[in-house]
Amino acid sequence: MIYLDNAATTPVNPQVAQVISESLQNDFANPSSLYSIGAKSEMAMDKAREFIAGCIGAKGSELYFTSCASESNNIAIYGLALARKNWGKKVITTGYEHPAVRHPFEFLGEMGFEVVTVNPDKNGIVDENAILDAVDSKTCLVSLIHVNNETGAKIDIEKLTAKIKEKNPRTAIHIDAVQSFMKYPVDVKKLKIESLSFSAHKINGPKGIGGLYLRQGTNIKPVFLGGGQEKGLRAGTENIHYIKGLAKACELLKPNLMANLRHYAQLRAQLLEGLKEFDNVVINSPENGAPYTLNLSFTGYRSETLLHFLDSKGICVSSGSACSKGSRSHTLTVMKLPADRIDSSLRVSFGVQNTADDVTALLLALKEAKEKLQKVKR
Ligand SMILES: Cc1ncc(COP(=O)(O)O)c(C=O)c1O
Repeated sequence: MIYLDNAATTPVNPQVAQVISESLQNDFANPSSLYSIGAKSEMAMDKAREFIAGCIGAKGSELYFTSCASESNNIAIYGLALARKNWGKKVITTGYEHPAVRHPFEFLGEMGFEVVTVNPDKNGIVDENAILDAVDSKTCLVSLIHVNNETGAKIDIEKLTAKIKEKNPRTAIHIDAVQSFMKYPVDVKKLKIESLSFSAHKINGPKGIGGLYLRQGTNIKPVFLGGGQEKGLRAGTENIHYIKGLAKACELLKPNLMANLRHYAQLRAQLLEGLKEFDNVVINSPENGAPYTLNLSFTGYRSETLLHFLDSKGICVSSGSACSKGSRSHTLTVMKLPADRIDSSLRVSFGVQNTADDVTALLLALKEAKEKLQKVKR
């Protein structure tokens, strides 16, 4: 199998699976229990917390474990907005967020917040000045996706967040870093942000564990209530096994971030070069986007048909994002691309395990698809 859908999820690294398996078999104690095996679980959890936090320049005390990045986004968005609603009810985001940000913003709108959304242009780029222009004295929250999950478009969060804070230092900033965590170096000390979310299953860790960085001293209203775990911000017994797995996944990637980015850039260049031979391919990703995600339209052919043909050849890619389950790509729609380009779009996303041979196999299969598949009748 050639797996080229790493923006949807990634294969679990065997070393991560080993850590989880050993923990499941040996360490069952609740980290909140007071006896010694409980304390052992707590110590292991704190060690993992410290390490993962260090990967983004944070302190262990600033990292909260959740069950996934959708949960992290919900906790941050509602929590930051509700804690500031008495002085400001304007919230700003981009038009190409993941549903785990988009839908909470819609709900904030229903709750009476004024929601401003800045869409990307036809090249997939969000005008950072338009976001900045929208920030005023009543803006309590700005939420930005660092790397878009469908096109790989990247926002310069270091510059933009500094400018937002210059305009209104009270505005809280949340970053959805799911598609950049442990891919690009991120140092929260250099970022003027309150929170940042990430997920283990995008970085060769297991599904079911995520994280939320929350800057020390940030005013937030807890919205996930229950026992006092995670300092009251996220109730629920911590998943100690997957927390250790997440730490292992980070440990394996940490020394190789730059080498991996170079590897992705090579694969992307090879794919782009090969695609030049097709007269029907249009690229939907911005040139300066993340090198590991490429969105293209194979015009004249339906995405689903192509996807199933590639699947029959043992190649996994996606049409739009995995969460949309075959419905029209949200990002390409807000980019206002023509329907035939949206309906023929494919997302190829690389992971650390991919090789030049994988790209060659994809290009060959696309050639065969063009010869064998029926074109869409318009
Ligand atoms: C940008 C982005 N944000 C949030 C999520 C949600 O992550 P999770 O699956 O951990 O809930 C995803 C997953 O695809 C994503 O790509």
